[in-house]
Amino acid sequence: MIRVQNLTKYYGERLAVDNISFEVSKGQIVGLLGPNAAGKTTTMRILTGYLMPTRGDAYIADCNMTTDSLEGRRHIGYMPESIPLYTDMKVRDYLTFFARLRGLDAERTRKRIDDVVEICHLEEYIDVIVGKLSKGFRQRVGIAQSIIHDPEVLILDEPTVGIDPIQVAQTRNLIKELGKEHTVLVSTHILPEVSIICERVIIIHRGKIVAEDNIENLSAILRGSRRIKVEVRGPADKIADALRRVPGVKRVAREGNYYIVESPAEVDPRSKITETVVKNGWNLLSAETIEMSLEEIFLQLTTNHEETEE
Ligand SMILES: Nc1ncnc2c1ncn2[C@@H]1O[C@H](COP(=O)(O)OP(=O)(O)OP(=O)(O)O)[C@@H](O)[C@H]1O
Ligand SMILES: [Mg+2]
Repeated sequence: MIRVQNLTKYYGERLAVDNISFEVSKGQIVGLLGPNAAGKTTTMRILTGYLMPTRGDAYIADCNMTTDSLEGRRHIGYMPESIPLYTDMKVRDYLTFFARLRGLDAERTRKRIDDVVEICHLEEYIDVIVGKLSKGFRQRVGIAQSIIHDPEVLILDEPTVGIDPIQVAQTRNLIKELGKEHTVLVSTHILPEVSIICERVIIIHRGKIVAEDNIENLSAILRGSRRIKVEVRGPADKIADALRRVPGVKRVAREGNYYIVESPAEVDPRSKITETVVKNGWNLLSAETIEMSLEEIFLQLTTNHEETEE
């Protein structure tokens, strides 16, 4: 349904998308995960026919988006990164405007507005001016607008950015629901978000795909090792030595009064660490697992990727 082949995009000298290929089959929800400047928006803009690639092809429902974007766009609902939603129109008029723009006749427009208002839970807001809605609800209007013509493919660029946790949860549920009937490509830089919404994730970093897998396999890769930050008062060298001898511990690095203890993911050495520290009469102030930051995950994936390629 969505197919990207050797896609490359330069902005002047800057390489934004570097020879990426992927496919999303009908009915799948796929996450495009990557940090800022990874190339997510660029890829999506090419896929939706708003931007020409430097090289390569992007297909939606077998339409080549560089040569046949008019036809292709009929199959796509697109919610761009920044929705121009600061408008004086009421929600109903705003949706009507987009429905007519999409070529729906008056009757179909009325029908579809009823549908999307129900799907996006906008019933109470139908007569509210869009610009006066809270950000989360504006985001929902953005989604409603993108599905007004009932497209097969949905492309959503960071749909949960800048909204509060409750509305984030609701928006994620909404996308999951939409995924039952549509093929969805959703971009995000939030790792847990893809595991909630998506069946499969494509990780993109500096314009390149560094990993592509289902959530389960990917989590296993990412859970390769565990790190615990331990704060202990006492003789530093002895403490570090003792921690190194704790069963399951692979490495210990010292940062002031803190010790970063690394172990395989399946081992949790915290109770043994406590035992060791207490037995030696030192003072254990804290021991907590360090979550990997997205940047670290990318770093790890990038390195792994390069190693496996050679
Ligand atoms: N119109 C443009 N002109 C020049 N460079 C651009 C343009 N748009 C994007 N870039 C550059 O291309 C790279 C990829 O940008 P892109 O917006 O696709 O990233 P992104 O993954 O969507 O990031 P973000 O998470 O910040 O939205 C960045 O280095 C960016 O600075
Ligand atoms: Mg972006």
